[in-house]
Amino acid sequence: MPQGIFFLHAQGYEVEVWAGAQPPTRDELLARTQGADALLCLLDDKIDADFLHQNPQLKVVSNYAVGYNNIDVAAATQLGIAVGNTPDVLTDATADLAFALLLAVARKVLDSHRTIGQNRWQGWEPMGHLGLDLRGKTLGIVGLGRIGQALAQRCHAAYDMDILYTAQSPKPEAEKRLKAKQVSFNELLRQSDVVSVHASYRPELAELFNKDAFEQMKPTAIFINTARGGFHNEQHLQEALQSGQLWGAGLDVTNPEPMRPDHPLLTMPNVVITPHIASATLETRSQMSYIAAQNIVFGLEKKPLVGFVNPGVWG
Ligand code: DGY
Repeated sequence: MPQGIFFLHAQGYEVEVWAGAQPPTRDELLARTQGADALLCLLDDKIDADFLHQNPQLKVVSNYAVGYNNIDVAAATQLGIAVGNTPDVLTDATADLAFALLLAVARKVLDSHRTIGQNRWQGWEPMGHLGLDLRGKTLGIVGLGRIGQALAQRCHAAYDMDILYTAQSPKPEAEKRLKAKQVSFNELLRQSDVVSVHASYRPELAELFNKDAFEQMKPTAIFINTARGGFHNEQHLQEALQSGQLWGAGLDVTNPEPMRPDHPLLTMPNVVITPHIASATLETRSQMSYIAAQNIVFGLEKKPLVGFVNPGVWG
């Protein structure tokens, strides 16, 4: 994240950068944060109440991500610590990856690729590698926020897909623009040909996609998760795919992360998994870095952060 680091240096701040190839352990992070005014952390750094209480001098915690389920925001707010995130700039990159996973699963891109290397390509097969068309199908979006809308926009424009969604509040503008319809979670599961998760993760939503949910989905349905691995029960997902309860799955997030390299899902023909790379483009990560750094500078100056998770923190 050099852009953000340059910016912090240019603003006259002393910056300590973790240079290890692997992320710091919790103890290392705790120790290095002692005495710091601000922390720029990653989405798998667990910044819980205990961590914050051991670093009460912190004035800003800036997450290098839009999701901030790794941070105890209530504890931070109680301690007067501003919490920042990086919304907007990663919307397109994340929606693009969800769209790429969807196409890759629907058209069996990864399994077809493996076929060649494994010397299983014997010639053109009339009934081989048959995937699914997306035109006119129904996309169910769980959490129609910025990223959910960006995926819906892609699917609506490219394939005239019907859009169903669940959200905490109705989205009238998106309903008009995308002809989207708000439905209950169960209705969305039953009616959708593709279900894609884009909600903000909260503990009460843990394993929302479990045996019960997968059982309600169509056997021709595709499950896409680019939000957080905690949304799905991985064993139940595997069983649903193996039994034909579900047609395919595309995941950019796993439960837990990192996924073990011998996980059965990795070799299943109807599954494509990427290692949490949705925001990983040069342009997007650079913008995220700048916003994360701006959040620190603004927070230390007690000005509104660019991505302000707890705007009421200073009363
Ligand atoms: C985020 O920023 O929360 C995303 O998970 C990045 O891919």
